[in-house]
Amino acid sequence: MLLLSSTALTLLVAAASISLVGATIDPLSWDEAYTKAEIIVSKMTVEQKVSITTGVGWQNGLCVGNTYPTTNPDFPALCLQDAPLGIRLANNVTSGVAGINAAASFDKKAIRARANYMGKEFRGKGAHVQLGPAMNFMRSPLSGRGWESGGEDPYLIGVLASETIKGIQEQGVIATAKHFLLNEQEMNRHLSSSDVDARTLHEIYLWPFARSVEAGVGSIMCSYNLANGTYACENDYLLNTVLKGELGFKGFIHSDWGATYSTAESANGGLDMTMPGDITMGSGGSFFGKNLTDAVKANQVSEDRTTDMAMRIVATWFKMKQDEGFPEVSLNSFDLENSPYVNVQEDHNILAREIASASNVLLKNVKNTLPIDPTKTKKISIIGSDAAVDPSTLNCRNHACTGGTLAQGWGSGTAYFSYLIDPLTGLTEAFGDNVQVQTSLNDWDLKEAAETAKDSDYAFVFSNSNSGEEADVAGNMGDRNNISLWHNGDNLIKAVADANKNTIVVIHSVGPVLMPWIDHPNIKAVLWPGLPGQESGYSLADIVTGKVNPSGRLPYTIAKKVEDYGAGASISKDLVIPYQEKLLVGYKWFDHAKIEPLFPFGYGLSYTKFNYSQLKVKVNASYGDNKKVVNDATVEASLSIRNGGPVEGAEIVQAYLSFPSSAGSPPKQLRGFEKILLQKGEKGVVEFKFGKTELSIYDAETESWVIPSGQFKLHIGASSRDIRKVAKFTL
Ligand code: BGC
Repeated sequence: MLLLSSTALTLLVAAASISLVGATIDPLSWDEAYTKAEIIVSKMTVEQKVSITTGVGWQNGLCVGNTYPTTNPDFPALCLQDAPLGIRLANNVTSGVAGINAAASFDKKAIRARANYMGKEFRGKGAHVQLGPAMNFMRSPLSGRGWESGGEDPYLIGVLASETIKGIQEQGVIATAKHFLLNEQEMNRHLSSSDVDARTLHEIYLWPFARSVEAGVGSIMCSYNLANGTYACENDYLLNTVLKGELGFKGFIHSDWGATYSTAESANGGLDMTMPGDITMGSGGSFFGKNLTDAVKANQVSEDRTTDMAMRIVATWFKMKQDEGFPEVSLNSFDLENSPYVNVQEDHNILAREIASASNVLLKNVKNTLPIDPTKTKKISIIGSDAAVDPSTLNCRNHACTGGTLAQGWGSGTAYFSYLIDPLTGLTEAFGDNVQVQTSLNDWDLKEAAETAKDSDYAFVFSNSNSGEEADVAGNMGDRNNISLWHNGDNLIKAVADANKNTIVVIHSVGPVLMPWIDHPNIKAVLWPGLPGQESGYSLADIVTGKVNPSGRLPYTIAKKVEDYGAGASISKDLVIPYQEKLLVGYKWFDHAKIEPLFPFGYGLSYTKFNYSQLKVKVNASYGDNKKVVNDATVEASLSIRNGGPVEGAEIVQAYLSFPSSAGSPPKQLRGFEKILLQKGEKGVVEFKFGKTELSIYDAETESWVIPSGQFKLHIGASSRDIRKVAKFTL
């Protein structure tokens, strides 16, 4: 957790551009919610309790997930709707940045603001549950759904999860932390078992879920896969021992769509709701419903368990105050044309644009090529199919197609675009009438691309790389076949760079890509807007013209070659997937193996420069026997950051910890970050506070978190490989 000194705080509040959508709900405590739930659930029959745990079946309701209501006592049908980035299968909604971009902003306030507007829109459409945030890991750069979540680091994903959950639930909508657990690839997702040791489980994959529970998350979705040999949705250890026991989760666990594979095993294993309800999607019948009632009658499942299931669901509904005038469902997911007109967009385009520019990562900028002053520019060229919307593919089903500019991946984690401002539109408007814009949108006509680029002041060349869930897009079955650019991207970029000495490359991508052209002397700048959503073009123009100074940072490592990613690099075809790299996920592996990445985790340039100074550390610890055991500790650190460059800008100050060597931990791990906005010449103070959570390792033998004693190192820097200040402390 980071604290800012009061001076820095005033400054941030005054200068920050992102403001929150009015928060409307202060959720009840779990105790208060359970007290209210008891009154209703105590009057329910077994059948009624079971019916609220059972979905009505795929495409049998207005939402992607719908439960049965009860009368006398009355409890409404619940509407569960995708996606983590906005409302899926709906019109007149905001379709903004993906989770991976929210993470790339490294901006807690922006993440919270995004969640606020999403929550408000879900509420506006009457959806009780938003099926997000996603928090699976980009264990491999090839993982198809990595972009729905926050990248490769548990601390960063944990912050993304926590701020997103609070932001959604402040609007009275139940957030869903998903997918629990170890669901890091699409290949064989119903069949394979992800196997990890207890320490890796706790320190990496469970970490964001622990932060979610602390944030008060209402529901958690268990995943399709098996974990250590048992299906996640009937995994007694994961659901009962860890989630409900260790983490003290009080909300309800529901299955992913078709991830329930049994009746009694699932109910006893900790599953509280089956989604979408039928045995396999669209098959009818259910593992819950009558089968669960029968299992209770046959003493395979206790009635107490069904009471607990119902209590968890009803209490969560009360916690978000959904009993106080929650809007009627106005979605019609499977018959969009006949859905009622309810426009929930308000002015959320402003936030969507701000977050898109706040998550744009500047990778290369030779001699301050960017920003560009349009008044000093005569002609620009815009090249590549990724620069413009292709109306024929814009809103194909679940975005599972390719063509035109990429602003989201594909699958259930998407929302249709009410509009999509493409880069061509954004840049053309920003450069204005006095600048001539030439285009070549055909990726394969390299001659035309070079001709177009040749005599313009700047040549912008666009390319992309896509991935998603399940469906086959251009031969990629969800997971990525490779991390190269699509649509002839490398050749196109090279052809343009050969023709124009001010080439600016813009990449829309779900994750890392190879960049064989990166050192081309004519490539003066590389921008990485990732998956920017509907405000793509405007947010890009804001960065290009310097309206916004870039401060996005990579939430994953970009390697020089795919093999550099180590043990987790490939998508396994095996049905048992041992997570062999253990704790060495992402940059931790690159640090350990001393591999130089192309661009490291946490990397991103600015139009200004920041100086770091005066790092101070204060330790407070209490010890047990012989001072050998650290009972508890707080470490506070503060430092000064000065904007020593030519313009206002925000720095993302990152704090990494090295643990004592006896801990057997990765070389260093992110344990804090803060965004600080400073005027030119201005100085601010940033403070970090590390408590038991940040200072502990998981001890598998005692099944507990312990603070190792010995020497720690605190590394403060501008990326995982740009450490500016180091301090040692001993516990
Ligand atoms: C996905 C979930 C999604 C659900 C409902 C599943 O295929 O894995 O993330 O929420 O479908 O659409």
